[in-house]
Amino acid sequence: MAEVKLEELPGVGPATAEKLRDAGYNDLMSIAVENPKTLADVADIGESTAVKIIAAAKQAADVGGFESGDSILERRKKLNRLTSCSKAFDELLGGGLETQSICEFFGEFGSGKTQMCFQLAVNATMPVSKGGLDGDVIVIDTENTFRPERIVQIAEALDLDPIETLQKIHVARAFNSSHQMLLVEKAQEIALKTPIKLMVVDSLTAHFRAEYVGRGTLAERQGLLNKHMHDLLRFADVNNAVIAVTNQVAAKPDAFFGDPTRPVGGHIVGHASTYRLYLRKSKGGKRIARLIDSPNLPEAEVVITVSEEGIRD
Ligand code: GTP
Ligand code: MG
Repeated sequence: MAEVKLEELPGVGPATAEKLRDAGYNDLMSIAVENPKTLADVADIGESTAVKIIAAAKQAADVGGFESGDSILERRKKLNRLTSCSKAFDELLGGGLETQSICEFFGEFGSGKTQMCFQLAVNATMPVSKGGLDGDVIVIDTENTFRPERIVQIAEALDLDPIETLQKIHVARAFNSSHQMLLVEKAQEIALKTPIKLMVVDSLTAHFRAEYVGRGTLAERQGLLNKHMHDLLRFADVNNAVIAVTNQVAAKPDAFFGDPTRPVGGHIVGHASTYRLYLRKSKGGKRIARLIDSPNLPEAEVVITVSEEGIRD
C-alpha cells in the first residue's frame, strides 16, 4: 500500500498531489475513505475526477472489500493501549484506552472529564513500556479549560520533565463548531511531521449545542456532528491514535431525550464512540466511571480518584 505514490493515481498530476498533501491526504487510505465532494474542493478538481481518484485509491489501498476474521484479528493486534493511571479503570476498558477508537467521557460539571483528559495527555507522551504511546498530543479546547499548570503537576507526579511534556502537547482553542471541525484537518497536518498518538476534544458538543438551538436546527446539528465524529475516527485510524472526547449531559430534558442524564448529541455521538464512559461524583474526591455500550466488554463500573497528582485508583 505504501508503494503506490499519489501521483500514480489516474487524474493526479504533481499539482493535485501537492494540494492533496497540503490538505493532509498523505496516503492512499485517507483518500480512499474521503467523499468526492470534499476531495474535489480541497484539490480544486471536478467531482467526477474525484470519484475516479477515490476509486483508484480504494483499489490500491485494498479497502471496500471484505476481510477475513483472522486478518482483522491480526490488525487488531497492532492496537496500542493507553493507561489512565488507574488500574481499575484500565481494566474496565480491557487494558487501557485503545488506539483507532474514540473514547467518550460524559457527565455533569465537575465530574472529572477534563481532569481525565489532562492525565491522558501526559500519559500519551510516556514510553510504551510505561503504558504510554510515546507520541505527541493534540488538544482541541472549546471551553478554555486547558491548564498547563495542571499538566505540570500531573507530569511531576510521574517523574516526567514537565516542560518536555508540555512541549509535546499542542493546544488549540476552538472558537466555534466550524473552527473545531477545521482544527481536526489542521491536526492531520501536524501529524505528518510529528507522530500524534492522542487527540483530545474537550468539549465535543458544547459549541454545537450552543449554536444549534431549537428543533428546526437539529438535523443540521446532527449532520455536522456526524461528519465531525467520522473525521475524528479517520484521524484515529490513519495515525493509530486514541481519540478522547468529552460530552455533557443535558441538564434540562433535551429535545432528544426526556431523561436528564443522557449525553448530548444522541445516537450520532453514541454510535461513533467506541467506548462511552459515564463519570459521576461520589464522596471525597472519588468518581464513579461506568462503561456503557461497549462492543466487546460488559457494562460495569469502577471507582477512581481525582487528586492533585491526577487520576488514580
Ligand atoms: P465541566 O467541564 O464543567 O463539564 O466539568 P469536568 O467534568 O470537565 O470537570 P473537571 O474535570 O474540570 O473536574 C473538576 C474537579 O476536579 C474539581 O471540582 C475538583 O474536584 C477536581 N480537581 C481539579 N483539580 C484538582 C486538584 O488539583 N486537586 C484535587 N484534589 N482535585 C482537583
Ligand atoms: Mg471540563
